[in-house]
This record gives sequence, C-alpha cells and structure tokens, in this order.
Amino acid sequence: MNPLPHNVLPDTAHVLSDGSLAIGGVPLLDVAAQYGTPVFVYDEQHLRNRCREAVESFGANRVVYATKAFLCKAMARLAHEEGLMLDVATAGELYVALSAGVPADRCVFHGNNKSLAELRYAIASGVHHINVDSFDELDRLETLASEGPGKPRIALRITPGVEAHTHEFIATGQDDSKFGFNLGNGDALRAVTRAQRSSAVELIGLHCHIGSNVFAASSFARAAEVMAGFAAPFDLPELTLGGGLGVAYVGGEEAPTISEWARVLLDACRSLGVRSAVNVEPGRSIVANAAVTLYTVGTIKQIPGVRTYVAVDGGMSDNARPILYGSGYEAFLPRAVLGDRSDRVRLVGKHCESGDILINDAAVPADLRVGDVLATPVTGAYGYSMSSNYNMVTRPPVVFVRNGESRLVVRRQELADLVSLDVD
Ligand code: LLP
Repeated sequence: MNPLPHNVLPDTAHVLSDGSLAIGGVPLLDVAAQYGTPVFVYDEQHLRNRCREAVESFGANRVVYATKAFLCKAMARLAHEEGLMLDVATAGELYVALSAGVPADRCVFHGNNKSLAELRYAIASGVHHINVDSFDELDRLETLASEGPGKPRIALRITPGVEAHTHEFIATGQDDSKFGFNLGNGDALRAVTRAQRSSAVELIGLHCHIGSNVFAASSFARAAEVMAGFAAPFDLPELTLGGGLGVAYVGGEEAPTISEWARVLLDACRSLGVRSAVNVEPGRSIVANAAVTLYTVGTIKQIPGVRTYVAVDGGMSDNARPILYGSGYEAFLPRAVLGDRSDRVRLVGKHCESGDILINDAAVPADLRVGDVLATPVTGAYGYSMSSNYNMVTRPPVVFVRNGESRLVVRRQELADLVSLDVD
C-alpha cells in the first residue's frame, strides 16, 4: 500500500536481497552507520549522468551549472570535469569554484546586486563574462574600467514579462521582479543601447531566467519566443535562456527530462531563426534527484484524535524548502524500501519552532520506530546550499557514493565550528 514512487530515487538506487536500499552500490544503512545522521548522500553517477545528458542535449560549452543549487569543491570539480561551466552568483560562490581549481574563464558571474568589490574580484579573476542586472551595475563597471585589465565581457539579464507557473517566491520572469532589465517598459532596449556604446564593456549576449521548478514546457517556449524576438536585431553571439526545469518531488508528479527540455528550447529557437549560441543554466535538474537525506528517528508522539508526530535529528536547518515554499517530499525507510507505507504522520525536525516541518502528511510504514534511519529523497538541490545553523544545530556532512564506495566530501560541522567566528 502506497509504495515509494521509483522516480524519486537516484539512478543507481538498488534494492538488496534483504529489502534494503543501496545507492552507488553502498547500502544506505552503512552510510548512516559510518558517517552518522543527518547526512546528505549523493549518487555521483546520477550527477554525472545528468551533466552528460545536458551537454549531449545542448552541446559542449552551452551548459552552465547553477551552483546555488548545490556547491562544494567536489561538486564544482565534478561539473567542470563533465564539461559544464559554472554560474556563480556571489563572491562566495566564485571563491568556492576557484578553490576547487575551476578556471575563472569557466565561470559566469551573476547576481542582482553585485558590489563594487565583487565586480572587481570577478574581473581580476578573469570570469568568462558578467551577467549585468541593472543600470547601477553598468555604472559600477564604468567606474572600474580605469582599473583594467581590459574590457569585461557582459551579457544583459532581461525580464521578458513571461509568467512561469511555479511558486511566486521563485518566479522571476514576470514584470514585477527585482531581477533584470524590464523588456516591456523599454529598460531592456535602453540597456542594450548603452552597453553597445560603452567603452567599458563588451556586450556578448542576452540572458533571461523565468523561474525555478517550472514543469510547463510552454513557459520555456514562450520565454524563448519573446527573447528571440527581442534579441534578433542585435545579432549577438550568445543567448542564455536560464535554468528552471522542475523535478518530481512526490508521487504523481512528472517533470520533463533535460533532453525533453532541450528539445522544446532548441526547436523553438530554430523555428524562430535564432543565430546566437543558445546556453542554459540548470541547477535543480542536475542535482535534486541525486541525493537523499538520512535522518534518525528520535521521538514518536501520538496525540489521539489529532495526529502522530515523528521527530528526526535534523529539520528546517537542513531543508528549509517545506517551510519556505510549502514543498512536498516523500519519506521511506532504507531498511525496507519497498514496504507498505500505510501510516500517516507529520515528520518534524528538532528545532524550537512549530513550523519546523519536513513533511506535513508523510506516508510511512506502520512499524516505524525510534532508532530507525529514515530517508527523504530529492534533497540534492537547495537543501545543503540553504542550510543554516539555526538553534546552533551543526550542518550535516555530504557523502558521495559510487561503485560500491563512499567518500566524505564535506565533513560534519563540529561544535567548535559554531564559535569559530566569535572574536571575544
Ligand atoms: N539561473 C539563474 C539566473 C537563477 O536565478 C537560477 C535559480 C538558476 C539559473 C537555476 O535554476 P534551477 O535550474 O535550479 O531551477 N531556493 C529555491 C530555488 C531558487 C532558484 C534561484 N535561482 C528552491 O529551493 O526551490
């Protein structure tokens, strides 16, 4: 009854003869035993498969991985090895990419409010180009022009006025947005004219990103259409159509694959006569389904006539998405992955807050007990990257599994890390 839907598990998920689950050839219970819980477990082959699918679909040098979805040195290196460029949206993301050994010219610098210091850092590092978001940023680039070295390449982020069908907090293509130059009110055209005339920058392309976790192919096709129409007269070398492809988090959801997404975008561009190289910036669709989070069940509280609360050893500090966007997740027991999930419980964390809910109404096996390792799949995107130290809970480690081996790529925070910034 109510089995776990298979499409929420990573590519190499494999049910062992005792009914337990292995990923990358490593039993999840072994990962929990070795590294403790909570822990993010990434299927490295799944990450590589999605990178390869993207590069095969869009072409070499046309895929820019949006590092905000999940970034650490191992992930930066993996994406770089697979031929992806990296979208970095802050000095911090650029720093991690460079620390991982990714060449600066494989990084594209984003952000709606880049500081002078960030722009200076990006230019001095030699990023491939900067995605400019405002007239104030153009002012800052002109201020920096006298410092050299050379003219930075830029693209302009355009807000195409296309409503993406997703949560309003992660929709960015509509007119009412803090991002980009508005197409409808003439700002986009004014920005292109100014950039083309400026001796401080070299305009190489236009960019848009309509939102995140978008399932409707029609939204992407519409954005491509609007952008192609706007870009045509300028004949610039590059057109970037953003990221935003959704993924299935729970049973019943079905998202387009990266190849299907590519078909929609590239067919639209072809039929619109786009001559620029078409780039994309996927984040979630590369990493989300690659990971599961393992927790340990610590407390089960039955409130007769109300509900049962199951509390685990993490919560909103390692997955803020339910509380931020009302996002749904599934839960399963790695010891019996195919088992019936006949009970309904509220899965909560350990934070001092009633809103600390991981799954509002989770289907779980009836024999769930204290001490069980419990997993939530599809936590590879915007989980670790949005984690916090709320309640001074330490951040979980990140483990990559592949070919029967596990490796720690980010260690667990220790208590001492929690005071490492305090100066007195
Ligand atoms: N390009 C730009 C300019 C972006 O702003 C983003 C995401 C992406 C690409 C990657 O989008 P993706 O392929 O991952 O959908 N924290 C939210 C998502 C925020 C997305 C921000 N920008 C969440 O957990 O759903």
